Amino acid sequence: MRIMRGAPGAKVLAFGGYQPAGVVTNDDLAKTIDTDDAWIQNRVGIKERRIAGPEESEIDLAVQAGGKALAASGLSAADIDLVVVATCTLEAQIPNAAARVAHRLGVQAPGAFDVNAACAGFCYALSAAADAIRGGSATNVLVVGTEKLSQWIDWNDRATAVIFADGAGAAVVGPAETPGIGPVVWGSAGDKHDAIIVRDRESFLHQEGQTVFRWATTALHPVAKEACERAGVDPAELAAFVPHQANLRIIDTIARKLGADKAVIAKDIVLAGNTSAASIPLAMSRMIERGEVQSGDLALLLGFGAGLTYAGQVVEIP
Ligand code: UT7
Repeated sequence: MRIMRGAPGAKVLAFGGYQPAGVVTNDDLAKTIDTDDAWIQNRVGIKERRIAGPEESEIDLAVQAGGKALAASGLSAADIDLVVVATCTLEAQIPNAAARVAHRLGVQAPGAFDVNAACAGFCYALSAAADAIRGGSATNVLVVGTEKLSQWIDWNDRATAVIFADGAGAAVVGPAETPGIGPVVWGSAGDKHDAIIVRDRESFLHQEGQTVFRWATTALHPVAKEACERAGVDPAELAAFVPHQANLRIIDTIARKLGADKAVIAKDIVLAGNTSAASIPLAMSRMIERGEVQSGDLALLLGFGAGLTYAGQVVEIP
């Protein structure tokens, strides 16, 4: 049997992000649940979030973000031979999202699969894409993180309603002579699997906020450091740190413990809320749009969430 060999490296060619139009402010939520703007801003860091209407599905969000990334990459749909969608909030599990997103974008007969690693999903999917390119099983990959969390939230539960939101982000990944996507560091803590959970088809998302908060602020900075080490990058050299947008206090704590002193820290949560697998590519695309990072800069991505799962890698900004 032959061994497949692909490109020496893989790199992100472009990012794209999309948020639905409907803005929901903290004051809007305070009209129906016992919460207030000051609590949400102080404890989580969110000012407003976007929520999709009933006419806009997680597939629609993914198509928008994927289309933007594809347009920015300079490739066409015909160049893509693998589509990977990271999501944990599909309205229905069958069929997968990837084949539908590919079809809507005009990508003909690609490999198509979904990844469910919750809020770490984009980093898992990006790693799978890079491995496929290096292993010779794909040439150009569209990776999308998309979530319509609003359809899994009890809008009377203030513990979750103030946090989660809808959105999508995407990356086009292609071959490279030198590595533009560093080795992934990934893992899980299944002993805490019920800290973020949808128990059955009739249930909404439940989160033990403090359990996850404690874990995120104590267990993840070593993962972030290891991802830098495996990529041969000193955290002090990073131009950007783009962690999952779960809570501003978590973001600040990990950034401080990591020692990414020169890095721009993604704080997309303020206007986007927590969009799970979409939050990292969405934040990354906004950072690039605002000119906060330049092509060739190094950014550390770090996803973490239900499972509990986590994954991080250093990427070169396209
Ligand atoms: O995306 C996947 C990964 N997820 C995460 O990383 C989430 C990690 N966890 C968190 O970010 C935080 O735990 C939350 C934002 C979810 C909650 O913040 P917290 O500071 O841990 O709040 P808490 O649950 O400990 O509640 C503190 C107080 C309580 O009142 P008392 O008992 O001190 O009087 C709550 O009843 O705040 C109260 N509270 C609220 N007040 C106003 C809880 N939720 C709210 C609310 N509005 N929405």
